[in-house]
Amino acid sequence: MPENTAPITTECLSPSPAGLARAVELLQAGALVSFPTETVYGLGADARQGKAVAAIYAAKGRPSFNPLIAHVASAEAAQRYVRWNHWAETLAQAFWPGPLTLVLPLKPGHGISKLVTAGLQTLALRVPAHPSAQKLLQALDGPVAAPSANPSGKISPTRAAHVMAGLSGRIAAVLEDGSCAVGLESTIIGLTTETPMLLRPGGLAVEEIEAVLGQPLANRDIHDPLTAPGQLLSHYAPQERVRLNATEPRAGECYLGFGRYSGARASDLSLSDSGDLVEAAANLFGQLHLLDQQGKPIAVAPIPQAGLGLAINDRLQRAAAPRGDNAQG
Ligand code: TXA
Ligand code: MG
Repeated sequence: MPENTAPITTECLSPSPAGLARAVELLQAGALVSFPTETVYGLGADARQGKAVAAIYAAKGRPSFNPLIAHVASAEAAQRYVRWNHWAETLAQAFWPGPLTLVLPLKPGHGISKLVTAGLQTLALRVPAHPSAQKLLQALDGPVAAPSANPSGKISPTRAAHVMAGLSGRIAAVLEDGSCAVGLESTIIGLTTETPMLLRPGGLAVEEIEAVLGQPLANRDIHDPLTAPGQLLSHYAPQERVRLNATEPRAGECYLGFGRYSGARASDLSLSDSGDLVEAAANLFGQLHLLDQQGKPIAVAPIPQAGLGLAINDRLQRAAAPRGDNAQG
């Protein structure tokens, strides 16, 4: 709990018309509302209200140099804030609403708080497909800044119960609507350079994006803070040590299996017995939450580096990275 924030009672809202109306009312009043998307639960604030956005950083305990994604109901709504281009049109037509975030140049008079963009001249935008997120954004008719709804450095939430476990008492409400179907954060594509650039692998496979673009994505320069600001390595961290590419658990470890490397013990979990990467992505954060509760080091089976495997391995490497005290996310 940040020192200067008194605990508040976090309301659990259902996705009924009354629950959605309450969520909109709270967002308009500058309060924080967690809401489901198909990737992970977001921690939302009205992106035009600087004080509300600042409260996101305070609730998460997150360093303030990390820019946030603005969520809107449609591609038309997105164009109120950014200079659109033909790449954006192509990708939005193919993948919005969905687990894709586009980074584009801000347009004059955009009205987005500087805290959302961390002072950059670009904005990350996403149109989520989750029906409750859609209803919320349509009713608000405004941009909602939202990182994943977890305390900084902790595993992203894929259920309302995860949000409550991490942020109860620090946020006004959680709109509760099941578990997240994709289970991994959105894929982020930068559209501010001549060639579309992969800024973060995520819930939409790179191969699918390249097929629609008809050309390969450029890779981000990991040394350039402007193309991938705030993506520190240590992230999504369970309490205990995480060991990757483990074909079997060692004594004292719990095991997160995949495909033919699926553990035999009752305490083991499997991302996907059949080796399905989409199923594995959906299970990843939920199963890390469960194993984390066992209080033992976690060994993880090898995951193929293709399709959603890219994003799964990216998150696992962050979970396994040595912990810095400036972990975020
Ligand atoms: O699926 C998701 O993307 C979830 C749900 C809630 O939508 N959100 C999410 O937000 O993962 P967050 O804050 O954890 O990640 C946002 C990332 C930042 O780490 C940053 O690297 C990138 O988006 N980003 C935001 N604005 C950017 C910008 N203007 N230029 C480049 N990268 C940006
Ligand atoms: Mg996050």
